[in-house]
Amino acid sequence: MRKRVVAVRRLHETHLAQLEREFEVDYFPDLGEENQAAFGEALSRAHGLVGGKLSITPEILDEAPNLKIIATISVGYDNFPVEAMTRRGILLCNTPDVLTETTADTGFALIMAAARRVPELDRFVRRGEWQTHIGESHFGRDVHGKTLGLVGLGRIGAAVARRGALGFGMPIRYSNASLKPVLGVELGARRCSLDELLETSDFVCVTVPLTAETRHLIDRDAFRRMKPSAIFVNVARGPVVDEMALVQALQEGWIAGAGLDVYECEPLSADSPLLQLAQVVTLPHIGSATHETRAAMAQRAVDNLILALKGERPIDVVNEEAWGAS
Ligand code: NAP
Ligand code: GLV
Repeated sequence: MRKRVVAVRRLHETHLAQLEREFEVDYFPDLGEENQAAFGEALSRAHGLVGGKLSITPEILDEAPNLKIIATISVGYDNFPVEAMTRRGILLCNTPDVLTETTADTGFALIMAAARRVPELDRFVRRGEWQTHIGESHFGRDVHGKTLGLVGLGRIGAAVARRGALGFGMPIRYSNASLKPVLGVELGARRCSLDELLETSDFVCVTVPLTAETRHLIDRDAFRRMKPSAIFVNVARGPVVDEMALVQALQEGWIAGAGLDVYECEPLSADSPLLQLAQVVTLPHIGSATHETRAAMAQRAVDNLILALKGERPIDVVNEEAWGAS
């Protein structure tokens, strides 16, 4: 009997066809309240689940007794109950590597846009306010040669650091769980404490995953330590930052500006105080959102799912113990 798979969110027809060649597929291009019951019904029979922006709880897993693998179309997996999945022998597969460079591009775009005030001055031109020579009130801050601090120097952090060091001559500091000696040699990246990084960096860019240890890692005290000229960038996860403290830091001039792709609550509410601040550049969580990279991520997730359901080791395994158990 063919195994059953639930696919969630829009997939390219080639990916869907690849799944349909192997499995019976229940496809939910859009998941909302109106089709939750049908989704639950499909999941109760499914052996595999693939998709993006999945919100999975242990209670949902209780209703899916046949489930063997979830293949998320993301590298981050803070929205999954990993321990509960492992206990049930359910594999979790993510999509690292294929989105690293694109997400680093987004991080660097935020560094540049915030430093040179690109969206703010674009609005100025569009409003017809460019009537005479620009003056100091329109000046930004240099990026080249300034110190770039990476909170987290994993795949994406290293790719941002590479852009800064090799493209813009930026000295690199990082705080990270482990030492990265190879990046020390390649980029001159120097590991330091988080406090030292915050106190000495001109640009602070967050690329750590959201975990119990990193939730609100960047809090009021952290913003207090930053230079008044510093620009803060977050391409990781919103809850790594205490957003109320960020708003206060910007309103009271503890830091100069921010570039944000992620927020404590997404989508960002239209009445967020962040949107009242001209020195903040806001993106709608588009770190990996290019045609090429989203296609590569979907392909990787589909490959992970197919391999796992054929009993072969998937390319990316988050919970090794579950692989051993299956
Ligand atoms: P990664 O390679 O696992 O890098 C994470 C780095 O953070 C690792 O170097 C890790 O240290 C370090 N780290 C983990 N916990 C830490 C802690 N408590 N203190 C200090 N350092 C810590 O992951 P990645 O591929 O770069 O992705 C990073 C995150 O970016 C993802 O988890 C996701 O949340 C986010 N992301 C966002 C977007 C977006 O659209 N904005 C896109 C992709 C990813 P070790 O090396 O010592 O383990
Ligand atoms: C996106 O946010 C990801 O984790 O891939």
